[in-house]
Amino acid sequence: MGPDAIEVRGSRIAVCFGERPYGVLLGEGLLNQIGAPVRQHLECESCVIISDRNVARVFADRVKKSLTSAGFCPTLIIIPPGEKSKTLKQASAICDRMIAGGLDRQSFVVGLGGGMIGDISGFVAAIYHRGIPHIQIPTTLLAMVDSSIGGKTGVDTRAGKNLIGAFHQPSLVIDDLDVLKTLPRREFNQGFAEIIKHAVISDAKMFQTLQLWNAGAATALQRLVKRNIEIKSKIVAKDERDLTGERALLNFGHTVGHAIERAGNYRKFLHGEAVSLGIVAACAISVKRAGLSADQRAAIVDLLERFGLPTRLPRKFPRKKILDAVNFDKKFESGNVRFVVTPHIGAARITDDVTLDDIREAVKQL
Ligand SMILES: NC(=O)c1ccc[n+]([C@@H]2O[C@H](COP(=O)([O-])OP(=O)(O)OC[C@H]3O[C@@H](n4cnc5c(N)ncnc54)[C@H](O)[C@@H]3O)[C@@H](O)[C@H]2O)c1
Ligand SMILES: [Zn+2]
Repeated sequence: MGPDAIEVRGSRIAVCFGERPYGVLLGEGLLNQIGAPVRQHLECESCVIISDRNVARVFADRVKKSLTSAGFCPTLIIIPPGEKSKTLKQASAICDRMIAGGLDRQSFVVGLGGGMIGDISGFVAAIYHRGIPHIQIPTTLLAMVDSSIGGKTGVDTRAGKNLIGAFHQPSLVIDDLDVLKTLPRREFNQGFAEIIKHAVISDAKMFQTLQLWNAGAATALQRLVKRNIEIKSKIVAKDERDLTGERALLNFGHTVGHAIERAGNYRKFLHGEAVSLGIVAACAISVKRAGLSADQRAAIVDLLERFGLPTRLPRKFPRKKILDAVNFDKKFESGNVRFVVTPHIGAARITDDVTLDDIREAVKQL
């Protein structure tokens, strides 16, 4: 489906993938009134709200009340926060509780939380009774602009992240910007790594907007989230199942980023922070292999720093482990790596020209 697959109406953004369009509701104060829009999409009564402890403590009551008042019958399942909960074992335990609670094929799943909850709740929705509807209520900036869009769901295994999963598009996504007020600053900032990535690969104008960013304005944040949903969904719409290479453009900064996450045992850096470092490395490689100008490279690094994101590795960080992790990455084929480069801000392409030595050099400079 082409780039005109998206239609934007006020705070309701219609996202179309394949045959099933779905909406993203974007605004403030939405949590108290989600019952009615959910009712527009779903007729069944029983549902499960899957959330983590941090998020449930602040928002679960509101969501539950709102659904109950629209005639739904929600059960709440709370799991521990953090990536360690995104496992097959946890997904299986959730399914067991849903079966015990009498949820059947006529039920649906509400994922209330950040990307971790979005991924595991979506995976449960994809496999429960061979697939039931999924509603996403992202509560982190990263989840709003990235993980809640595109239908990738899944869990981690000991061998790596997101190795088990399914494509399962949500029926509705509800982005209430008010929830971001309780998000710790570091978590908020990491969302900007994906936003800056979107700007670099496809939107030079948004890049300029970010250079002039004034954190205070709520309407500006709403416009920014909306723009990022449009960018991600347009790219995904061209390649929903990640087959043609178009969707792979979203991996800009991620080859090295993932390797840094892995080398830091998933504890040293948040995903967005590792991606920020990965973007810096991808820019160095783009200067060498795609003609990115030194000025634009410096502007990208500056922008990442403006949002409190790391652009240098700590001196003692085990750089060799990063190379080992890149080697381990499935994208590494016969001496060269499929790598996303940017020739200038606002554009990206995939190349097979990048060598492991290029990556080694870029990592050394970090
Ligand atoms: N499916 C996709 O396309 C896709 C894309 C990118 C990332 N992801 C996945 O997303 C996950 C990362 O998501 P994340 O960064 O949102 O992490 P997260 O879901 O782990 O949330 C980060 C932390 O913030 C807390 N939190 C969440 N919302 C809060 C709020 N409003 N107020 C206070 N605390 C809050 C959580 O409890 C958690 O401790 C990873 O598992 C990654 O693999 C998936
Ligand atoms: Zn990412």
